Amino acid sequence: MINQFSSPLRKNTSTFSFTLGNKAGGIMPSSSASSAAGFSDASFQEWRDLIYELSGIYFQDNKKYLLESRLQKRISYLNLGTFEKYYEYVKSGPNRKNELKYLFEVITINETFFFRNQPQLDALVTTVVPALLESNGRVNKNKLRIWSAASSSGEEAYSVAMVIWEMLRPKYPGLTLEIIGTDINYAVLETARSGIYKEYSIRNTPPYYLKKYFKQDGNTWEVIPDIKRLVTFKELNLTDDAGMKMMTGFDIIFCANVLIYFDTKSKIKVINSLYNSLNRDGYLFIGYSETLHGISKAFKLVSFPKTIGYKKE
Ligand SMILES: C[S@@+](CC[C@H](N)C(=O)[O-])C[C@H]1O[C@@H](n2cnc3c(N)ncnc32)[C@H](O)[C@@H]1O
Repeated sequence: MINQFSSPLRKNTSTFSFTLGNKAGGIMPSSSASSAAGFSDASFQEWRDLIYELSGIYFQDNKKYLLESRLQKRISYLNLGTFEKYYEYVKSGPNRKNELKYLFEVITINETFFFRNQPQLDALVTTVVPALLESNGRVNKNKLRIWSAASSSGEEAYSVAMVIWEMLRPKYPGLTLEIIGTDINYAVLETARSGIYKEYSIRNTPPYYLKKYFKQDGNTWEVIPDIKRLVTFKELNLTDDAGMKMMTGFDIIFCANVLIYFDTKSKIKVINSLYNSLNRDGYLFIGYSETLHGISKAFKLVSFPKTIGYKKE
């Protein structure tokens, strides 16, 4: 028997139990060819292909200077001098594995904030979770597994934990909740694990939640322990087949504001993996500006006030 509000799965998952048993600095170069040793079109193509192969992220032609400035940070730090030398360092250098961490840190865009998508949170607590918990034939009625895929620094995962704790804990006191946040960028995951945020992250947080679920210390806000212990974070590349196969048995997946960085082929691959990670009757939520049109026909589109979800039937 799992203790009330204890977190027995702390290391791998987080469990919310009502018997419930639980960012690289650097110089921004100008776009001139003289920065580092010039980012030639050939080097850009080579880098674009490598990053795509490693992460599914596709840098369009108009993002050449963005990529140049991002890579420049590591080239300067490592004192390598040219984009070609850094390419060899990442592709076949002895520190390859370790360097990938830093590469992903500089090339990813990690914008996120608490309560970013209120209509999704409303749909979650008014309809999706109650329907899942009350559906006939549900094998484990008291357990809910939620995944924030591409969680960045954790604001989405913690927002989900807060609304469920606030709105549904009283109604389903026996619920076991596990929320997992994953990202390819190890540095943002460190922030996520700390649960400590600057004003920028909490700017959209309803005052009620800010007061109840954060502890303010000067100009930082820390998520309270009751919420922190419901959520765990781990590094995961959404295009890594082996890693994705380990992610099974989820009732709800949030995969928001990351598909925009992928091309169609990567989107299809990732969405297909997420589909396989969901339980039957589970839901997938993506970002406001994202769509599965032309990506997957496997889901049933479900409308909620001011938002939509994708259901696996
Ligand atoms: C803009 S943030 C979105 C954060 C959050 N989901 C939200 O909607 O607020 C996109 C995140 O996707 C992550 N990302 C990009 N490519 C990824 C990949 N192949 N696997 C996992 N995470 C990835 C980035 O590191 C970044 O933190």
